[in-house]
Amino acid sequence: MSHKKNIKVYNLCVVGAGHVGLVAAACFSELGHKVICVDNDKKRVSALRKEIMPFYEPQMAPLVKKNLKRGNLVFSTSLDEGIKKSDVIFVAVGTPPQADGSADLTSVENVARAVAKNLDGDYKLVISKSTVPVQTGQRAKETIYRYRKNNAEFDVASNPEFLREGKAVYDFFYPDRIVIGVETKRAETILKEIYATIDAPVIVTDINTAELIKHASNSFLATKISFINAVSRVCDLAGADVSKVSLAMGLDKRIGKDFLDAGVGYGGFCFPKDLEAFIYISKKLGYDFRLLKEAQNINEEQRSYFVEKIKEHLWILKGKKIAVLGLSFKPDTDDMRFAPAIDIIAALLKEGAILSLYDPQARDEAQELFKDKRIKFSKNSQEALRGVDCVCFLTEWEEFKNLDFKKAKKAMAYPLVADGRNMFQRDELKALGFEYIGMGR
Ligand SMILES: NC(=O)c1ccc[n+]([C@@H]2O[C@H](COP(=O)([O-])OP(=O)(O)OC[C@H]3O[C@@H](n4cnc5c(N)ncnc54)[C@H](O)[C@@H]3O)[C@@H](O)[C@H]2O)c1
Repeated sequence: MSHKKNIKVYNLCVVGAGHVGLVAAACFSELGHKVICVDNDKKRVSALRKEIMPFYEPQMAPLVKKNLKRGNLVFSTSLDEGIKKSDVIFVAVGTPPQADGSADLTSVENVARAVAKNLDGDYKLVISKSTVPVQTGQRAKETIYRYRKNNAEFDVASNPEFLREGKAVYDFFYPDRIVIGVETKRAETILKEIYATIDAPVIVTDINTAELIKHASNSFLATKISFINAVSRVCDLAGADVSKVSLAMGLDKRIGKDFLDAGVGYGGFCFPKDLEAFIYISKKLGYDFRLLKEAQNINEEQRSYFVEKIKEHLWILKGKKIAVLGLSFKPDTDDMRFAPAIDIIAALLKEGAILSLYDPQARDEAQELFKDKRIKFSKNSQEALRGVDCVCFLTEWEEFKNLDFKKAKKAMAYPLVADGRNMFQRDELKALGFEYIGMGR
């Protein structure tokens, strides 16, 4: 990384050593800042101190190791210590969905209270990197006022995170934009100085607007996926090819090609919960966000539609052997949170299928999730394919694109490929003797 230009060094505390916090802590320390990364998960912290990463994220481990060694990064379980020793506190704790769709902000409140307790006279800036509903910053500020013991100065700010899991380190150093939601010039200056060596447009707004930018961005991307999935359904009915539709649509600069691939739909820790939370907060504020509700419906339908397509080919699934390749919600991560694979595997089991599962990284996570006796975990793709009546591809991992299909055909009992990500060329597979199920092709 070439971010060695002069930087004003800040003492930062990053709260949460998860997909966002750990990447941010490693990257801030790489920029030259002194970082204490705090997590209340003792096992995670003690593993990190031994340079053992809690999850797979390309390029992250070397940065953590390097900055641990040079003393720019330390890990702690003590929030009090982290806050006391820092000028700036980045909050990167989880904001998971609750049963009613709202975001659970308990961890954010806990951090705000800890900040109040540890305000010791020197100014501190508290910044949310967690995705939170609009007006959360306001609430955090009120909480700190309520619990602080003296008149120590502080500001709250919002600095939403846009990184993509699997490309998180790259996205930190080369973001499309940096959004800074602030109430004071002082907070704005500090945030700009922290990111000074990163070359990206900086959008400065009030806190509410910054919070809303994050929800609006994720909701828009999810809607884009649902839009092309709806188009793919019409393509199936009309005998058209959605891959060509999205290729041609995406070349229009006003539309853009990203997030325009039809398939089994979006998943992951962000889109499903952020849509829920955005719908919830909009309703609370007085707006019924029907468009997003429909985006959710379309997304859910894609999974059952995929299983229906397999049934159309194999008729009875009871006792049929099916391989599922690609379990994480997208490539280059082992994250299985809200992955489409979860619903699809559940649906296949409900039909009575016998499954062999394989993922290049998410095996441990998947083994935690799926305990059914009818599931076997395989060491590689070819092992998973042995004797199966169908292979489903649910994540577009690079290694699947290079699969030896001639060998695969010999291993399978019946050569049916259900391509949940439209990764393969139907004609090429047909030429090899496969039957092919795509999404809208
Ligand atoms: N994962 C992504 O791709 C992504 C991208 C952008 C924004 N976000 C948002 O960032 C936030 C964090 O997401 P994540 O994926 O990193 O979550 P995560 O679950 O991977 O990590 C959260 C971490 O915070 C720790 N934690 C929770 N409460 C704590 C507390 N009181 N004190 C100390 N540590 C605490 C947990 O132990 C955990 O390690 C969420 O709001 C999420 O929506 C996530």
